[in-house]
Amino acid sequence: MDERTPRLYSDLAWLWPLWGDPDGEYAEWCAHVVAMIEERAKRPVKTLLNLGCGGGKNAHNLKRHYAVTGLDLSSEMLANARKLNPECRFIQGDMRDFALPERFDAILIDDAVAYMTSQEDLSRLFRAAHRHLEPGGVVIVSPDGTKETFEQNETHVSRGNAAAEAEGEPKNVDVVFIENNYDPDPTDDTYDGLILYLIREDGKLRVEVDHHTLGIFAADVWPTLLREAGFAVFDDDWRPGSVKSYIGVKPPAACATGG
Ligand SMILES: C[S@@+](CC[C@H](N)C(=O)[O-])C[C@H]1O[C@@H](n2cnc3c(N)ncnc32)[C@H](O)[C@@H]1O
Repeated sequence: MDERTPRLYSDLAWLWPLWGDPDGEYAEWCAHVVAMIEERAKRPVKTLLNLGCGGGKNAHNLKRHYAVTGLDLSSEMLANARKLNPECRFIQGDMRDFALPERFDAILIDDAVAYMTSQEDLSRLFRAAHRHLEPGGVVIVSPDGTKETFEQNETHVSRGNAAAEAEGEPKNVDVVFIENNYDPDPTDDTYDGLILYLIREDGKLRVEVDHHTLGIFAADVWPTLLREAGFAVFDDDWRPGSVKSYIGVKPPAACATGG
């Protein structure tokens, strides 16, 4: 991440268990990820690397299917991930620039890709993924949005995950998340994601502010850069109105086109 580390991944990472239900929307998304992998992979898939694995909510669902390794920049988020998935392996690193000794059958890059703020970042990420895939393996890339789908000043309010609150984790805390996306300069490749947290600890309110700098690219940039990294590219529409995901297949007999 550039400039400032988002507070959600540093001093406020303790709120992550309250953001979304690992057994709700993450479970539905991961079932679809498994379907995409099984449809396109040209080899049996036993191992999966989740780049930008965050607090391990994807890992929580994918570990039923694969031996999951997660990689993330944030030590605080990795601590969340380890707590939720003690049986998985988690590694600290930058997904644009990492070197692991092994290759994987599948790689998942989803919401963390929003932190790639230039096409150069995306290219480095896709080349790193290509280097870490077995021939015939697949990368699933799922952008949050594109320039074509961006909605100026979009604002979303959500309550903390009721299941986590019911389990009392973290204790005696109620949270409301207010997310606002604004692009001050639509000619460049970034926008501002602002998050306000209304945190009530034992009923006492505090309001915290968190700035995220996020990347936004035209839809055709994604398949173009994946092809340049050496992948055969397919796209996928999960649900009506959802942003396309891309499935990159590393050709079974591929030489190191993309690195
Ligand atoms: C929204 S969270 C991911 C949540 C995750 N999908 C889960 O299942 O819990 C985004 C993550 O991207 C990570 N991140 C951002 N830039 C990164 C980079 N260059 N390399 C690795 N991780 C990065 C952040 O540290 C953060 O944990």
